[in-house]
Amino acid sequence: MSSSSCASLEIVRVPCLSDNYGWIIHDPATKNTAVVDTPEAKPYQDELAKRGWKLTHILNTHHHWDHTGANEELKTDGVTVVGPIDEKPKIPGIDSAVGAGDVVAFGSTQATVMDVGGHTKGHIAYYFPDSKSVFVGDSLFALGCGRMFEGTPDQFWTSLKGLRELPDDTTVYCFGVLMGAVMNE
Ligand SMILES: [Fe+2]
Repeated sequence: MSSSSCASLEIVRVPCLSDNYGWIIHDPATKNTAVVDTPEAKPYQDELAKRGWKLTHILNTHHHWDHTGANEELKTDGVTVVGPIDEKPKIPGIDSAVGAGDVVAFGSTQATVMDVGGHTKGHIAYYFPDSKSVFVGDSLFALGCGRMFEGTPDQFWTSLKGLRELPDDTTVYCFGVLMGAVMNE
């Protein structure tokens, strides 16, 4: 699996299902470890075991099955599930429901929650300013955006403009492979 370091965080890409990526975020200072969305458990479990990391957080971006399906399997003791407040009833095992502007504490750093609704109405992104990183789920891909299942064009465009306003040196961590966006659920 590819890995990169962004300021204080180690970020690992984990292929899941046939055409998705999941992400592991590890804070070496505190050993806090998060996964962003949970299409399936085993690829994450294998990668965590290989690295000797213990999961502490699940950060869900939206309710779709390929982003939350393994929440309950991965939610062992000591794991906090964070997800979008507007989709709370659809997020298995959710402990902390968050919305735009909320701050999610994670180890020695923190993420700011962004409203990026459009693909789903309540879709959120997690922006880690200290690490110049944003995890966008299915809202934005390398060559497009996610399919507009629930939102409106105005809502989606407002969301994309919000992402565009992030600093130019922000790394965008999306969930699919290149143009898989259109078909991604
Ligand atoms: Fe989706």
